Amino acid sequence: MTVTTQLSRALHYLPGQSPSTAQPPEAVDIVPTGGALGAVVHGLDGRRPLSAELVLRLKAALHQHLILIFKQQTLNEEQQLAFASYFGSVFRPPEDVPVLASAQASGLPPDVVSVSNLPGGHTGHGELTPHADHQWTPLPSSGSLLYALELPRQGGDTSWYNLVQAYEDLDDDTGHEIDRLQLITYNPFLRPFDGSPRPLYRTPDREPLGAAFPHPLVRTHPDSGRKALYLSSHVEVEIPGYEPAAGAALIARLRAHLAEPRYRYTHHWQVGDLVYWDNQVTLHSRTAFDPNDRRVLNRVSLAGSRPF
Ligand code: OGA
Ligand code: MN
Repeated sequence: MTVTTQLSRALHYLPGQSPSTAQPPEAVDIVPTGGALGAVVHGLDGRRPLSAELVLRLKAALHQHLILIFKQQTLNEEQQLAFASYFGSVFRPPEDVPVLASAQASGLPPDVVSVSNLPGGHTGHGELTPHADHQWTPLPSSGSLLYALELPRQGGDTSWYNLVQAYEDLDDDTGHEIDRLQLITYNPFLRPFDGSPRPLYRTPDREPLGAAFPHPLVRTHPDSGRKALYLSSHVEVEIPGYEPAAGAALIARLRAHLAEPRYRYTHHWQVGDLVYWDNQVTLHSRTAFDPNDRRVLNRVSLAGSRPF
């Protein structure tokens, strides 16, 4: 099924898509995790239409908490797409910029990406290091919504990192040093996934990995205006125009700072959880799990804007 057909089906042919069946906002509770970021949303059924009041409440909560965890959902792909579409249109990279699940023929990922260790799925069973989805593209996605269908007995936990707090906690000198720097995050999908060591900082002796899209190292959230340290932890990067050894040392220092446990919330998934995170101000990582177990989630990512 083509992407457009899937989304239009989601938005036009679902039963009960009328204002009279809208979700009552007063049934919905948004409770902070108490950790470094995140809030848990109870009492919301993602299959039902949302009132304006509720959509705006969720957007405000996302700006405040950076990730929202919707409990006890029952969503097929169309329903997940329809719910995600309240918050934006689906992310589509340029055809020549590969991302997770990009198809050989079209160069594009499907609207709903299967994040699963089953044949045809993506990301396997190994650890995923802290990253922001699509940071290496010209217009990185604003957010992603990941929905859990099947889970392993152990492991496969996902952690999110609060990049706003990490930025605010930097000492003044470091803050001034990085405020106007740009950062190139090289596309990891241009490098073979063959287990060979991955360079963390590009030095002049190495060819750049394909097209480079510099973005501010300190990113301002396009809606909330909050500033964040926009840096993934293990992807090859470069600060253009910076002396390479000094750049590598600065990045290593910032990455050590981001890795402090106080910026992290770890989620132990339950089937039916739908997590909506803001890719512009958070990172996420995943622990490995037993390859003999099944872990099946569906992801929808939303289009974003040019970082500033
Ligand atoms: C993703 C991702 C983490 C996980 O889907 O973008 O990084 O826990 N997934 O599977
Ligand atoms: Mn990811």
